[in-house]
Amino acid sequence: MKVGLVGWRGMVGSVLMQRMVEENDLVGVDATFFSTSQAGQTAPDFGQTGGTTLEDASDITKLAEQDVIITCQGGDYTKEVHPKLRSGGWNGYWIDAASSLRMEDNAVIILDPTNLDVIEEALKNGVKDFIGGNCTVSLMLMAIGGLFKAGLVEWVSSMTYQAASGAGAPNMRELLSQMGYLNESVAEELKTPGSAILEIDQKVTAALRSDGIPTAEFGFPLAGSVLPWIDREVEDGQSREEWKGFVETNKILGNKTPIPVDGVCVRIGAMRCHSQALTIKLNKDLPIKEIEQIIDGDNQWVKLVPNKKAETLEQLTPTAVSGTLSVPVGRVRKMKMGPQYLSAFTCGDQLLWGAAEPLRRMLRILQD
Ligand code: HSE
Repeated sequence: MKVGLVGWRGMVGSVLMQRMVEENDLVGVDATFFSTSQAGQTAPDFGQTGGTTLEDASDITKLAEQDVIITCQGGDYTKEVHPKLRSGGWNGYWIDAASSLRMEDNAVIILDPTNLDVIEEALKNGVKDFIGGNCTVSLMLMAIGGLFKAGLVEWVSSMTYQAASGAGAPNMRELLSQMGYLNESVAEELKTPGSAILEIDQKVTAALRSDGIPTAEFGFPLAGSVLPWIDREVEDGQSREEWKGFVETNKILGNKTPIPVDGVCVRIGAMRCHSQALTIKLNKDLPIKEIEQIIDGDNQWVKLVPNKKAETLEQLTPTAVSGTLSVPVGRVRKMKMGPQYLSAFTCGDQLLWGAAEPLRRMLRILQD
């Protein structure tokens, strides 16, 4: 199997390569690395056979020699290259992190711990385009996929706390620069334990509203604030990030009758872990122990965190989860609205299960 990799140097691509090295995914694989800017230079060594020179990522003939192309190059690249390959008769597998092709009829959104059945059925039916899902959706399904699979979910409202990484690498840097800028604005006062907190606050607020705080990427301060709108408006006041929650969840699950999923998507000052507060309306009243077992037993990465303060604050935060494949779910309890209303909170690494991991696992599925 000849595998072509595009966009392996960017943030998602780098996380993907790191995971592929950890899992020996490319050892002995005939892999070719493509580049948009450095064709002809020496290719990286990730244990692959062949592929010692970087090929040109716009060379359709070279791309068409591949049985599988994995791309993290982004949506514009996909829109440019994918139609050319397909119209030229290329019949290989296209595995993509970008959203451009996700909702196409002949594409499947990949999240195999949740929808291996959908993926296998698609492979049998000759589907060739396999696209990673929106990070928030994938992380929600890694967390409460068990409830969906058990047919227990009437609807879900997801209120998100999304990390800077979802907006891109420069945004992560900007978040930190903003934090530094705010800190500097009161550095002297912070050295004096007795300095008046309201004066400090006033200075910080002035710094947040000043032209000096770096906002080239986000457009607004995120540090010391929250940004309750992600991506553009789709319709009826819903953002595209919120719209994806509904359409992608149902597509991933292969639902004939869609389950309503909606909420407010909010950017917060975390680095690379998206968190979500979930309100789930169940279609029956089950004992909480049973619900916990269903959540915890869904896959090997989800982890039920007891609804206790110490465990929650230790295990259910971006600090605890960042850089790991673990998807903790906690704060699970029945809400005052009634016995079928469940609350939950979950946290997951946006670059791993939210982006890179489903792609490398799809390659493994194709190799099996
Ligand atoms: N759209 C997501 C975000 C990241 O802005 O956080 C990509 O799935």
